Amino acid sequence: MTSNVLIVYYSQSGQLKEIIDKTTAVLLQDAEINLSTYKIEMEEEFPFPWDFYSFFNAFPDSFLQKPHKIKRIPADILNQKYDLILMYYQVWFLSPSIPINSFLQNQEAKQLLNGSRIVTISGTRNM
Ligand SMILES: Cc1cc2nc3c(=O)[nH]c(=O)nc-3n(C[C@H](O)[C@H](O)[C@H](O)COP(=O)(O)O)c2cc1C
Repeated sequence: MTSNVLIVYYSQSGQLKEIIDKTTAVLLQDAEINLSTYKIEMEEEFPFPWDFYSFFNAFPDSFLQKPHKIKRIPADILNQKYDLILMYYQVWFLSPSIPINSFLQNQEAKQLLNGSRIVTISGTRNM
């Protein structure tokens, strides 16, 4: 029986994406796993590379877990039921990053996550 698995992530430098690629390679080889990927997109993207002020200005909203606007989740991702959701996130200022916090507090995301089994995988500095 085929299982639907969704990868949810956000990545700036590609470091977290590299962790995703390494940890999901085995799933790609399994004919019974239908793997989809959704990258969280911010309405207003954070700069990369970071400048000094943007970096430290991200501190309050990171720490307070204040959401920013994210782009709408594509309909083909939203309208599918997943047996498993792999949620990859990075840490900003000892808290889940603003993109991940924004996703978790988004109404469409709540609909997407509702009723699915979820595994979270965290990547932090130089992992
Ligand atoms: C604004 C900001 C704050 C960060 N704060 C922390 C932190 O408190 N602890 C930590 O271990 N790493 C911290 N990091 C490092 C990130 O967690 C790490 O670089 C992560 O892998 C970034 O993934 P990405 O570049 O694929 O988005 C921070 C990075 C940024 C950009």
